[in-house]
Order: sequence, then structure tokens, then C-alpha cells
Amino acid sequence: MEGNIWLNQPYGDIVDYIIKNYHKKLSDQLKDLSKLTTTIMRVHGLEHEELFEVHRLFHTIQINMVQHVIRQETRIFPLIKRYSIRPIDELLDKAIKEINIYKEKEDNTEELLSKLKTITNNYTAPQDGCMTYDRTYELLKELHENIMEHLKLEDEILFKRILEEKVQ
Ligand SMILES: [Fe+2]
Repeated sequence: MEGNIWLNQPYGDIVDYIIKNYHKKLSDQLKDLSKLTTTIMRVHGLEHEELFEVHRLFHTIQINMVQHVIRQETRIFPLIKRYSIRPIDELLDKAIKEINIYKEKEDNTEELLSKLKTITNNYTAPQDGCMTYDRTYELLKELHENIMEHLKLEDEILFKRILEEKVQ
């Protein structure tokens, strides 16, 4: 997705797009992968010790991203949507305050994803795996891409635009 198309879109539309296209998909991916990473660890953990680390990294990412979605959908996005409809300073200040708290609490998800990518050999399942193993690695790769694209739209477009309003 090209970021530039979002530079002039109303904030409320960007928020709706993020919830519909990233957050909902993310919640489904996390639920499926929680089961899958546990299953392959149980079935293949004897031959592939790295599956214990895959399981641990994934579940730490899961905690981070569940909190990410809930913080944004309960605290940040409603303020942005209100500001989008009624662009007054008071709402802008409130939204900026919440964005700054979110940024201060920034977790280590990107670092964990890069460790996951390395330990899974760029999400390549081994020859002696099985269909579930293949599917799990395929979904982990999709999860990685989904999270990176979605953080980019939030941090580099949506939040950046809102924070810059105050400087103008
Ligand atoms: Fe998000």
C-alpha cells in the first residue's frame, strides 16, 4: 500500500480503515497463531527446539498487540474521530496527549518480529515438518507484514499528521 494516498484523507476515514483492515485481521491472526504455535511446539518440539522460542516470541508479540489495539480503540481513536468531525483545539490537545502516552509506552514488537524472522529462517518451514508447520510459518509471515504496514500507517501518517497540526 502506498502511504501517500493517506496524506489528504480525513482522520476519521484513516481510523476506520485501520480498524477494519488491520485491527480486525490482526485479532483473527493472533487467535489462530496462538493455537498453531502451541500445536507445532508440542508435535515437533523434540526435533526442533527453536519452536519453544517461536512460541515465546509470538505470545509476547500477542500481548503487545492486544494492548495496542485496545489502547488505540478505547483511548486514541475515539478522540481522533471526534476531532475529525469537530476540529477544536481542546480535542486536538486531548488526542495529542493520548498519542504521546502511546508513544512513551512503545513496546519492543518490531525487535521481537525481527528475532522471529531470524529464528524461523525467514519463515521457511523445514522439510521434515507437516502441513500445520507450513501453515503456521506462512501465517507468521503474514502477521509480520500486517503489523509493519499498519504501524507505518499509524506512526508515519496518522499520528504524524496530528502531531504536526500543533506546530503549524
Ligand atoms: Fe493499530
